[in-house]
Amino acid sequence: MKRFMNEKAGAAIIAALALCACGGPSADELPVLIPQPLHVSWHAGTCQLPESLVISADDEGLVPQAAYLAEALSPYAETSVTEDASGYVRLSTDPSMAPEEYALSVKKSGISISGGSDRGVVNGIATLRQLLPAEAVSGPEIPCVRIEDKPVFGWRGVMLDVSRHFFDKEEIFMMLDQMAQLKLNKFHWHLTDDQGWRIEIKGYPDLTEKGGWRSFNKHDDICLERAAAQRNPDYLLPEKYLRTEGSSTLYGGFYTQDDIREVVAYAAARGIDVIPEIDMPGHFLQAIEHYPELTCFEPQTWTGEAFSSPLCLGKDDVLDFCEEVWKEVFELFPYEYVHIGGDEVNMKNWNRCPLCQARMKEEGLADGHALQAWFTHRMQDFFEANGKRMIGWDELLQGEVTPSTTIMWWRPWMPESVPDATALGCDVILCPQSWFYFSLEEDSGSLIRTSNYDMLPDSLSAEQKSRILGVQGNVWTERVPSWSRVEYMFYPRLLIVAEKGWCPPETVSDRTMIPRLYRYCERLDAQGINYRIPTLENFHEFCVFTDSISSTVTCPLPSAILRYTLDDSVPDTESPVYTGPITFYDDAVLTVRAFHADGRTGDWVRIAYDKCGYAEPVEVEGVKPGLHTEWYFKRFPKCDAIAGAVPDGKCVVDTVQFPDVAKGRRATGIIFKGYFNAPHDGIYTFALASNDGSLLRIDGRLVIDNDGEHTLIEKTGQAAMSAGLHPFELRYFDYNGGRVTLALVDEDGSRVPFGDGWFFHKED
Ligand code: ACM
Ligand code: ZN
Repeated sequence: MKRFMNEKAGAAIIAALALCACGGPSADELPVLIPQPLHVSWHAGTCQLPESLVISADDEGLVPQAAYLAEALSPYAETSVTEDASGYVRLSTDPSMAPEEYALSVKKSGISISGGSDRGVVNGIATLRQLLPAEAVSGPEIPCVRIEDKPVFGWRGVMLDVSRHFFDKEEIFMMLDQMAQLKLNKFHWHLTDDQGWRIEIKGYPDLTEKGGWRSFNKHDDICLERAAAQRNPDYLLPEKYLRTEGSSTLYGGFYTQDDIREVVAYAAARGIDVIPEIDMPGHFLQAIEHYPELTCFEPQTWTGEAFSSPLCLGKDDVLDFCEEVWKEVFELFPYEYVHIGGDEVNMKNWNRCPLCQARMKEEGLADGHALQAWFTHRMQDFFEANGKRMIGWDELLQGEVTPSTTIMWWRPWMPESVPDATALGCDVILCPQSWFYFSLEEDSGSLIRTSNYDMLPDSLSAEQKSRILGVQGNVWTERVPSWSRVEYMFYPRLLIVAEKGWCPPETVSDRTMIPRLYRYCERLDAQGINYRIPTLENFHEFCVFTDSISSTVTCPLPSAILRYTLDDSVPDTESPVYTGPITFYDDAVLTVRAFHADGRTGDWVRIAYDKCGYAEPVEVEGVKPGLHTEWYFKRFPKCDAIAGAVPDGKCVVDTVQFPDVAKGRRATGIIFKGYFNAPHDGIYTFALASNDGSLLRIDGRLVIDNDGEHTLIEKTGQAAMSAGLHPFELRYFDYNGGRVTLALVDEDGSRVPFGDGWFFHKED
């Protein structure tokens, strides 16, 4: 058991085991707490919540928090709030504690939470909520306990894009309430982008009256196609966001300023600051479409490109417009930080616009990056004059930045962003795409990868480390049209963000995180929160056999219901339930998908079973060790497209690895070619992990298909071979990833790297 626990969790469990001896709860009965508190001492006995529960706030400032707790406990008891110290649950502040610190005491006689500020108190409330049973029951019992706790990082964030698809304020309330349960304390609200402007600005009403609505676009089409192909209603566009105008259907919605105030107050009661992002000077097309004078040239609509035409920075009126918008934003959001975006700016217009050119000349700006930096500094001065601090995406580092800028790092292919920014004296928030972009589909490695992310790498000095404010999980919603899908993308990965942001980095790893995360899923189930059932286990995507074979696939989450098909179709709620191994005597394709009890579902796995004999080896003379490797510096959509008149380079590698000489480009395609030397007759299992796509062929047969643009994903497949040399080809293409590894999978599932003697090639 200790193997899975960090030190503190281990200590808690040991204390619990000691309690068992005197009749206390067993370790399995103890509630799972995420994030893991710093000091936990379980005591014998339980406290039973009275059916009529009084919550008292000992100072007036804690009344909103008491009201929040009263609402959170209402499924368990009749709750009321008083402003004295007479309640069964007592909230108080203790100025000797750090603002986010708290102490929680649960005794038979009552419960007290004291915090360094209202923020500390809500953190204590979050822990209390997790001590309660997941299911709503009247008069629940809570184990007696004393918890003293505080976070390591002050920024524990969530970003939601409401531009690409819209989510109304009730959905945002749900997000905030879920964040509060995990002690996540920053809600970064991506309010504007090319596809929709979602915040009412009274000075420019068309921003929302027109810019809050649009015809169906490419993203909607993808969602609707997926809804049908994947038999998943979570990809449908909710009716409530559709509006008929004449003969056309429009999609959209926006928040009034009153909605925003309600959201901000709801968040504040739960200890959450709200950070508005008004992305500029790029990603601004929805505003430009309705206020065309904002751009350099004629009005434009979004054509489906990632980088749209930006604001014209040569026009003073544009600067005035931006300031007017921000002035209204400042009035709505009390938190000191605001987010200017600044990512992915297409600067082509600026190079040919006479006004932008004149600005560059007048200000002595050498290029587009300098022009963007000039604009950003102007805005930053305006923010600071209004008492605000500016956050921007790490593209800002391509121009000059001031140390008062906070950088949000999202581009893993720009790893120098964090050392550079912190060396310049900037604070940094971590949300690098490969680990914390939860709009990227989860895969079998995501939970491990995100759990093991190194928050404070040794390459940073102590001073640089002190500038890491924390971490954030982001969901962009191009392919996320419904709230159920939003939850599916966030969970369970958001639990890891909570733990990474709260706990000492050395105590968080996949081994401490994942078993607790699976247990926490019971709470998600009880609250009706959709989440991705962890990837099915114990299978290879491509299996070979000679006589018969039995399926081995299992689900790590016991509560999931598995359903399957044998006709290549995607299982739905009508498909038969998979109750255990199926034996195959001939070729077959088994598709298995996990479902929640309420029928909600997500990914599936497809396993091909191939009946075959051992492939005969080939006779080749004069082979040499290693694989012939050639590469092309070009972006490829698929592995089989990798080709070119002349390779950009070639070499021989001992085993499958990205040759150092081929590194450093954003896009590359590589072909490894030669022979696999099977030492004996047998079935060999390979594990191919890559970011992005890869394909493995042996003896001309496809063994592993890990193709397509994706993050680091591992797939496994088998080949039956007689001893000797077998033609081998592995193709890999990279677009911002740079990882490819091939390993042998041994009997117990371990990945064994290839040493000498496995690969040969014939010289050209
Ligand atoms: C971003 O993902 N463009 C910040
Ligand atoms: Zn211009």
